[in-house]
Amino acid sequence: MTETHRLGARVMALIDDLARHTDEPGRLTRLYLSPAHRATAEAVLGLMRAAGLSARIDAVGNVVGRREGREPGLPALVLGSHIDSVVDAGRYDGPLGVVGGLVAAQEIIARGAVLPFALEVVAFGDEENVRFPTSLSTSKAWAGQYRPEWLEGRDAGATRLRDALVAFGGDPDGIPALARSPRDVVGYLEIHIEQGPALEAAGQPVGVVTGIVGLTRARCTVTGEANHAGTVPMGMRRDALAAAAEMALAVERLGEGVPGAVATVGSLAVTPGAVNVIAGRVDFTLDVRAPEDGARRALVAAIDAACRVIAGRRGVGYSAEIYMDNRAVDLDPGLRACLDAAARRHGFAPLRLASGATHDAVSMAALGPAAMLFVRCRGGISHNPAESITLEDADAATRVLLDAVLALAEA
Ligand code: GLV
Ligand code: MN
Ligand code: MN
Ligand code: MN
Repeated sequence: MTETHRLGARVMALIDDLARHTDEPGRLTRLYLSPAHRATAEAVLGLMRAAGLSARIDAVGNVVGRREGREPGLPALVLGSHIDSVVDAGRYDGPLGVVGGLVAAQEIIARGAVLPFALEVVAFGDEENVRFPTSLSTSKAWAGQYRPEWLEGRDAGATRLRDALVAFGGDPDGIPALARSPRDVVGYLEIHIEQGPALEAAGQPVGVVTGIVGLTRARCTVTGEANHAGTVPMGMRRDALAAAAEMALAVERLGEGVPGAVATVGSLAVTPGAVNVIAGRVDFTLDVRAPEDGARRALVAAIDAACRVIAGRRGVGYSAEIYMDNRAVDLDPGLRACLDAAARRHGFAPLRLASGATHDAVSMAALGPAAMLFVRCRGGISHNPAESITLEDADAATRVLLDAVLALAEA
């Protein structure tokens, strides 16, 4: 490591420190509004204040730090990402963008640079959307797209989002006031691990994201009849699990049939879930993504039709509730060019690549220009404790971000 990797070293140390906060000892799980999320938010709040930002935790649990520009109240350039995680997560998905933004902002403050816009760093709280049936709810609160029914949604333990938010110290009634006007936002820049293998294959540390796929998520329920596994003949059952299994295979087959699309049943809960009981009910999740919105919606409709046919043939009930329907988003050409030019000034030839993962940039794009910088991750692995990046790449990304902010200030 050389002096030139100073920013990367700081980013990696802060990420390692934040990774201590987990809901499950022995592995990293940090669900929205959990005690580990609260502890992480407080740690980030302290880091922001120590960096010289005026910081607070907002009504939905986002941590936001701000430094005024050449005069108070100017629109803000926002840097950030999220601090919630999936179950048994890696440490970089989310925190890299928060800490990268924070370290870049700290560097700007240390240099005494006066900017023609305010600079904000944000740690969004609900990006993974794995605890409650929500859709990028905390960044959508900023975009004025928060749906009040999300507050009534429940997690797997039947806790209501509204109650979890109050326990966290948030304020459900304060959410509408979080909505920002596009006039208050200069733009949004997010560093994120690539979560795919393209940068590694190309031998490049960073890439500029062209756009983010559209995404539909649903909670689906199959209702059969719980009964004795030893006494009910095979032809006389209404087995919810066998039906759900057939549905999952249909999801896979239909997803394979649409170029560029992916369709996943990632979670399945069997009730009552005993070795000697035919399943009476199965709840499963559906996640469908595609770069083209029409193709995605057609695929979702085809899956729904196939599941209904399977349910009819097997004599079970079927219902599906779509709770996320995010259109595909093109990231801003001007901000993309700015990141691209900054990367080239640092000697990189950044790839241009599309994102198959969703991001808070989807929400922020509704408020103003948004762009993302991807960072090479080992083996393209993410949503896995084996997620890994190098200190050198963290340094490269942070310097490119810093350079892009300073270039925007000159523009
Ligand atoms: C979240 O990162 C997702 O794309 O599922
Ligand atoms: Mn992420
Ligand atoms: Mn993720
Ligand atoms: Mn994501």
